[in-house]
Amino acid sequence: MSIRLMNEPGVPAMYPAAALATYPRPASEAEIRELAALPLDELKALARKTADAVHGDRVLLRGLIEVTNHCAMDCLYCGIRRSNSGAVRYRLSHEELAETIRAGRRAGFMTFVLQGGEDPALAGEGLLRLTETARAAAGPEAAITLSFGIRSRREYEELRAAGADRYLMRFETSDPELHRYLRGGISLKRRLKALEDVRAAGLQLGSGFMTGLPGETDETLIQNILLAQSLKMEMGGVGPFIPHPETPLGGAMGGDLERSIRATALLRLAVPLCHIPATTAAGTIHPEGREQMLEAGANVLMPNITPVLHKKHYLLYPGKICIDESGFQCVGCLSVRVMGRGLRLSWERGDAL
Ligand code: SAM
Ligand code: SF4
Ligand code: FES
Repeated sequence: MSIRLMNEPGVPAMYPAAALATYPRPASEAEIRELAALPLDELKALARKTADAVHGDRVLLRGLIEVTNHCAMDCLYCGIRRSNSGAVRYRLSHEELAETIRAGRRAGFMTFVLQGGEDPALAGEGLLRLTETARAAAGPEAAITLSFGIRSRREYEELRAAGADRYLMRFETSDPELHRYLRGGISLKRRLKALEDVRAAGLQLGSGFMTGLPGETDETLIQNILLAQSLKMEMGGVGPFIPHPETPLGGAMGGDLERSIRATALLRLAVPLCHIPATTAAGTIHPEGREQMLEAGANVLMPNITPVLHKKHYLLYPGKICIDESGFQCVGCLSVRVMGRGLRLSWERGDAL
């Protein structure tokens, strides 16, 4: 087969000319369809080659802080959805957040990813104040990424002004009907509008999707990759859906490892410059899930540095790994894991390329 990964004259520019001159170019739709049909090992090898060309052997570290598990939303797949009365709710105080970030800076982290539910206490001003606290604790050099779901354009602009650099919000699935069903009536169009607002506010944009959602087809996966490409996202997360017993999807099958590895590899080939994490969900369904994502072209790891006291309550799905260890212990563990794959951890900020 003829997959042209290098820049060629006449290829429409998705990225700045300087990047295109140096890096492999994004695969076209026809190529993505061809790539999707390859045996897994061949697909992984192509994706890793692209990752090596663009990102080298470095695996960027980001410190994940799960700030709140309160949520006003009721997504069918999520263990911290509003209707799960079994979830033990918590919200980090400003002091806890600041101390976690300061400890992270001392350990070497240069990026902090603050994530949480759509917590009514953090509507408007609440998240602004928290972002200011995070910025003060992180200092001017470190990057701050937020991930708190849908907000207004104006709120994204205010968060940017308060010190946020990046925003993560997966589109979850590109299938509009499935999206609306899973997200309690909120449309894919609304999610995409919010992503547009994130971009317009000057935040680096992250998105992504789950694999193995009930009702998803092979074509959904292709459409997910094409949507990710059209968003020109700078960070992209893929993870298997893992059913939580206390949700309406508790009895569903869930995603398998192969599908999420394939999705990671296709994403790498479709959006070569994207920062792609090897996700905790992949590590949860298979002991070497994250390593396999790295082999498929991922270039980011996100140790969870949430205070151990709260970690076990941010339970999106059962069996989540690393909830008894501190994220700082995970760094040691991860450095051994990446070395085994010929890669090395990096403390760089890792901004959008
Ligand atoms: N509330 C924000 C939002 O929904 O964008 C951010 C937090 S949300 C918990 C982060 C991500 O967790 C979601 O984008 C979704 O892809 C993932 N997630 C939720 N439930 C999951 C499950 N059961 N299995 C795997 N991933 C899940
Ligand atoms: Fe809330 Fe996000 Fe979970 Fe949906 S996925 S219920 S918005 S935390
Ligand atoms: Fe957390 Fe291994 S990465 S214990």
